[in-house]
Amino acid sequence: MGSSGTRPLVVKIGGSTLGAEDTTLEDLAWLARQAVRPVLVHGGGPLISDWQRRLGLEPRFIRGLRVTDEPSLEVAIAVLAGLVNKQLVANLQAFGVRAVGLAGVDGALIRARPADPDLGFVGQVERVDVGLLERLLEDSYLPVIAPVGIYLEAVGDGVRPVCLNLNADTVAGELAAVLGADLIFLTDTPGVLDGMGQTIPELTPARAVALVEGGVARGGMIPKVEACVRAVEAGGTAWVIDGRVSGSLRRLVFGEGVAGTVFRTG
Ligand SMILES: Nc1ncnc2c1ncn2[C@@H]1O[C@H](COP(=O)(O)OP(=O)(O)OP(=O)(O)O)[C@@H](O)[C@H]1O
Ligand SMILES: [Mg+2]
Repeated sequence: MGSSGTRPLVVKIGGSTLGAEDTTLEDLAWLARQAVRPVLVHGGGPLISDWQRRLGLEPRFIRGLRVTDEPSLEVAIAVLAGLVNKQLVANLQAFGVRAVGLAGVDGALIRARPADPDLGFVGQVERVDVGLLERLLEDSYLPVIAPVGIYLEAVGDGVRPVCLNLNADTVAGELAAVLGADLIFLTDTPGVLDGMGQTIPELTPARAVALVEGGVARGGMIPKVEACVRAVEAGGTAWVIDGRVSGSLRRLVFGEGVAGTVFRTG
């Protein structure tokens, strides 16, 4: 837990939910004024694919992760740490929030290493330096984090810096765990669904793992469920809720009913 009292809150938004009806940024601005200390993590999947195609690159995925060759890495960095991050920061500032955009590279916030040679420049999170975030939160800034990590590759006597494309859900889970924060995923489904398409109201880590192993949670839901388990095992509470429903973030934080899935220990 952070040093100044309230438990911080990590919120992850997906590319799929930021539309015209979405009130997430307004809700975040409101939370920031109520002394909730949010950290925003964003993805940018659809926009990266869009820019890849504009540049004649074909998006390819293995187990939900983008195969990232060098030209695709350039696109991912430009879109995530540039376009998406700065638009979110600018929009939050328009709502009166002191938002600061950072990629995991900045201040070496997120050290990573290559995840799998087949995926190219895709990283797995190795270490998070939480000090920078805690300072920002203490000064009432709202950190907005783009999922690009830094890998210092040993080469001869020195090191070579390599930026790596990270999964934003995993980043959110790691940040929540190291900050001792609660975690909220806003996505495009009304929570984690069971095999019949019904929202599962509550999951323990053991049941959550079984859902992934049993193939009920698939694709983009897998890293979210795993991140929620990570946050819960570190002492927090985690939720997957519907980001398309106006005001859902604000209502959840203030204990009003929101459809979705809560993750808790046993
Ligand atoms: N058991 C499940 N319950 C709910 N959704 C599931 C489940 N299994 C798979 N999914 C899929 O996971 C998707 C959510 O993950 P997805 O990666 O698409 O969204 P996101 O991470 O919010 O956005 P983006 O990745 O575009 O930034 C749902 O739209 C659904 O298709
Ligand atoms: Mg996703």
